[in-house]
Amino acid sequence: MKRLIIDCDPGHDDAIAIILAQRHAEVLGITTVSGNAPLDAVTDNALLVTALLNVDTPVHVGAARPLVGDPIHAARVHGVNGLGGVDRIEHGRTPASEDAVGFLLEAAAEDVWVVPIGPLTNIALAIERDPDWVHRIAGISLMGGSVDSGNATPKAEFNIFADPEAAAKVFASGANIIMCGLNLTHQLRTTDSTVERLRAMDRPLATFAAQVFDHLHNRMEELIGQRNAALHDPCAVLAVTHPHLIDAEPRAVAVETEGKLTRGMTVVDERVTRRRGEPTAQVAYGIDAAAAMELVLDALGADQ
Ligand code: RIB
Ligand code: CA
Repeated sequence: MKRLIIDCDPGHDDAIAIILAQRHAEVLGITTVSGNAPLDAVTDNALLVTALLNVDTPVHVGAARPLVGDPIHAARVHGVNGLGGVDRIEHGRTPASEDAVGFLLEAAAEDVWVVPIGPLTNIALAIERDPDWVHRIAGISLMGGSVDSGNATPKAEFNIFADPEAAAKVFASGANIIMCGLNLTHQLRTTDSTVERLRAMDRPLATFAAQVFDHLHNRMEELIGQRNAALHDPCAVLAVTHPHLIDAEPRAVAVETEGKLTRGMTVVDERVTRRRGEPTAQVAYGIDAAAAMELVLDALGADQ
């Protein structure tokens, strides 16, 4: 089994990604970062998911704010607490530490993949503390960026836009990076029939996921008039656990930190081969969405 660390900001799709990872990998730990909601909220949500899964995966608390500027959140999608619309359970769980970066550095090994699915602040801080860290792990499979349009702004995807300086450091670090951007994740979508399939399973985790997707569909209907949602974060997990489902190409990727209109944009060099910059990431362009969705639904219906 692959060994992973999930760096996240739960977040509805983060929660599904954690469940998927637990089903198909050895999750050494979860690190949290301010993103979809403030740090305390996303940490509570990560602890809630480990309780729902009944696993003792340690949760380590990370950065409360980006490297530069103030934190931004995504309450209009995920709710003020980061996981709106789902029933919560009392669990009494607490974080294993307040030092996510220390955990990331300590847990590094040649077979360990780091899977950031929120802003890249913790990852950049780890690189700042030990630049050689990126060569002591198997790689970084991240959900973030896009080869074309954004969601936080016309050109920036939320995870990158929330901390562009951190993202710029990560893409320039020399790490073995898989980038699962919006151009990929928009190909994996849940619909109301997904919710019906989950409800029919009549299992606690499936019922939780049905609430997760129903919340997202309600928000998408209000925001863009469509009752479906991209399943972003699980793509970064599948890129490690099921790489055959993803088509990726080597590309030079850099992050804009100065542009008035383009701050947080992942600039992917797609010029003709002979003029391209040196690749800095494997950029994902295609996914077998049907097979991916079946793996997600299987993980959600699994016995706990
Ligand atoms: O743009 C999608 C990303 O932003 C996902 O990680 C989602 O959880 C939000 O954090
Ligand atoms: Ca996320």
